[in-house]
Amino acid sequence: MKLTEAMASRFSARAFIDTPVDRQTVYNILDLARQCPSGSNIQPWKVHVVTGEARTQLIERAIAYAEENPIGAGPQGNPIHPREFVQPYKTRRFQCGMRLYEALGIDRKDKAARQAQLMRNFYFFDAPVGLIFSLHKSLLPGQLGDLGIFMGNVMLAARQFDLHTCAQGFWQDVSPAVHEVLEIPEDYLVYNGMALGKIDPDSPANHLDMGREEVDGFTEFLGFS
Ligand SMILES: Cc1cc2nc3c(=O)[nH]c(=O)nc-3n(C[C@H](O)[C@H](O)[C@H](O)COP(=O)(O)O)c2cc1C
Repeated sequence: MKLTEAMASRFSARAFIDTPVDRQTVYNILDLARQCPSGSNIQPWKVHVVTGEARTQLIERAIAYAEENPIGAGPQGNPIHPREFVQPYKTRRFQCGMRLYEALGIDRKDKAARQAQLMRNFYFFDAPVGLIFSLHKSLLPGQLGDLGIFMGNVMLAARQFDLHTCAQGFWQDVSPAVHEVLEIPEDYLVYNGMALGKIDPDSPANHLDMGREEVDGFTEFLGFS
């Protein structure tokens, strides 16, 4: 697959089918992704890949954790997620939620339906494989960018194998459960999760258009004729 095709066909998929993804395929995706750059070649990424029983255990523990620590209040002391977004990010965040609910036919006043959609995150949107990305806390915040580049590479590499992904900051909110099940040491930050698998192409959850700011909206071109 051409890079342009991989980039154009990547989107955040939120409805997967249960076709298994084998270990070698995930390995090959990570093998491609690890070619990405990082400042001073630090390579701060650490990845846990779960499927089968390991995936089930993670889901069950995370749901149990969220029952005791309701999601929404945000992770305690998490240094990478602002409590209040400033503009224009606040509006974009709001629109992102609205576009998702609209595509799924969820009334924004329907709290139960919104909660049910949030719950889909626990199940990696039914993807057979979940990835958890973490990094050593001593590296924060400078190397979070490196990890983001790595995750971007994973998303594009997945397209090469006809697979889709959805990054999930969601897993930060249940990070104590993630630490426990995956035995991630406390001096590591659970940064993000990611669903990986084959998608249900007919699901409305896979037909969202989130929209993007035009290049001129975020770029200053200087010195060009
Ligand atoms: C770091 C990161 C974390 C994200 N976390 C979530 C999440 O927890 N749940 C979710 O449904 N989507 C999540 N997304 C997907 C974004 O909402 C999505 O990338 C954005 O709306 C743009 O849409 P697109 O990826 O389909 O182009 C995340 C994306 C990124 C890059």
